[in-house]
Amino acid sequence: MGDMPGATDIGTPFSVKSLVEVSLEVNGDDVRREIPASRTLLDFLRDDLGLTGTKEGCGKGECGACTVLINGKPVNSCLILAYQANGCKVTTIEGLEKNGELHPLQEAFIEEGAVQCGFCTPGMIMAAKAILDANPKPTREDIRREISGNLCRCTGYVKIINAIEAAAKSGRTKDSCQG
Ligand code: FES
Ligand code: FES
Repeated sequence: MGDMPGATDIGTPFSVKSLVEVSLEVNGDDVRREIPASRTLLDFLRDDLGLTGTKEGCGKGECGACTVLINGKPVNSCLILAYQANGCKVTTIEGLEKNGELHPLQEAFIEEGAVQCGFCTPGMIMAAKAILDANPKPTREDIRREISGNLCRCTGYVKIINAIEAAAKSGRTKDSCQG
């Protein structure tokens, strides 16, 4: 036993403290950073890039508050390591406003009263953007199904569905949905 190395002598093939370089596009800007391999995309966006519009709710894939788009698809950024988005296009809520104008979904959420505490709103709008990018004319049932992974404790969802439906009917989401 005396000659056996202790656990700390063995080392690990992959340390969570290993630094990795990531290079990706965030809201149209090229970003290159050296970060710990264990950093989640959520922490990278909020802490490294200062994009605090993306929220952390549960931190384990259950609430959707951290939803962002990777190459146009909605993901829970708390479940993805930042380096896994290497080479990808990431869009956050900050990327929706163009030339000082809110995205039609943002306007619709305000106009329909779909924002109460607002904690779920960024993730909900990013999920909604993915819905309308894939299907510009969703039914209410389509919307309800597609946002089922995004939890809201305030609104009861009806006004959120109204807002997404109103944005779709406005016909203005198509040109704004490039991310
Ligand atoms: S914080 Fe990511 S799903 Fe809840
Ligand atoms: S508006 Fe408060 S959680 Fe949705």
